[in-house]
Amino acid sequence: MFNTPFVLSFALLLSCPLLFVFVPRFLPPKHVEISLPDELDDLALFRRANLAAVHRGGGGGVRGVGSVSHLGTISSRPKIAFLFLTNTDLHFAPLWEKFFAGNEGLYNIYVHADPSVEITPPGGVFQGRFISAKKTERSSPTLISAGRRLLAAAILDDSLNSYFALVSQHCIPLHSFAFVYTSLFAPQLAESSSSSSSSPRLPMFRSFIEILSDEPQLWDRYVARGEDVMLPEVPFERFRVGSQFFVLARRHALMVIRDRRLWRKFRLPCFDKDTCYPEEHYFPTLLSMEDPDGCTHYTLTRVNWTGSVGGHPHTYHPPEISPELIHTLRQSNSTYSFLFARKFSFDCLKPLLELADRVIFKD
Ligand SMILES: *[C@@H]1O[C@H](CO)[C@@H](O)[C@H](O)[C@H]1NC(C)=O
Ligand SMILES: *[C@@H]1O[C@H](CO)[C@@H](O)[C@H](O)[C@H]1NC(C)=O
Repeated sequence: MFNTPFVLSFALLLSCPLLFVFVPRFLPPKHVEISLPDELDDLALFRRANLAAVHRGGGGGVRGVGSVSHLGTISSRPKIAFLFLTNTDLHFAPLWEKFFAGNEGLYNIYVHADPSVEITPPGGVFQGRFISAKKTERSSPTLISAGRRLLAAAILDDSLNSYFALVSQHCIPLHSFAFVYTSLFAPQLAESSSSSSSSPRLPMFRSFIEILSDEPQLWDRYVARGEDVMLPEVPFERFRVGSQFFVLARRHALMVIRDRRLWRKFRLPCFDKDTCYPEEHYFPTLLSMEDPDGCTHYTLTRVNWTGSVGGHPHTYHPPEISPELIHTLRQSNSTYSFLFARKFSFDCLKPLLELADRVIFKD
């Protein structure tokens, strides 16, 4: 008779090949995952930013900047926080320098640079503006985390930050700073002061973020983490897609860093890399659930998807740079001109600088 240990070992041996068949289905796919320490780090940062906002009362619109009547004075004018998300050197820094020049006190800069890449920080206005960053990777939720870290750092840093513009190293400005500033703040301030004469309501700035529900790939993107895993927080009918680059109003920036519910789902790794772009879904889905009327549903960052390859939009190269291109890229179907554009290869810097004063910043 066989003794029991022998039978057991034999059974184990037999089951080994079966393990190879079944185990991969249960193991998470090999992707950058957000580690527990990283997650706790972020949570602590978001909590600090949220507390700071609550204490200073920086909840919505320009609420954090005192009363509207003070808007005229330099010290309390709302600022735009420019959030640079990069995993390379900021090759267009000289162009952005020109953009910011002369507008001190009306903006702040924050840079999240992937620490796993060696990056030479540009000096000038970017000096000392690098925030504590973590590794980012395409097709993973790390890009959402980086965006949230930038928002939190900006909220924590300055209660005058009222708009938060996320840009990448491949983005360029299409207009002067003054034009951008006025486009964002002036119409909405005018609207709010004319709308109610009795109570001086504070303006509720809208966020400029693309929010779409009719993309052919949407179902594939929805099930990229497995069927039903997004439920019950995110039913398919409420799942949205939009541009990765946005301009958020302060109350929406706060909404994003306070969120835990949707993040629990969007942080799950995808099984299929080709349909996994969490950052194109998290922000539009969250904002369309929480405050659809507070968002324009379109972006102010022009991108050219014609002839896109591997999920990358058309990249402009030096021969394409011309005054006509800048004028074309500005044109939009909304009441707002496009303010930023991407993607530009880094060797476009020289031709762009040549156009800077003559075309880009002339408006
Ligand atoms: C968009 O990219 C295509 C090439 O992929 C190019 O032919 C076209 O001119 C570009 N459109 C604009 C408005 O730049
Ligand atoms: C504006 O709308 C037209 C018609 O739908 C479309 O062909 C064009 O690409 C749009 N332009 C921009 C900049 O989105």
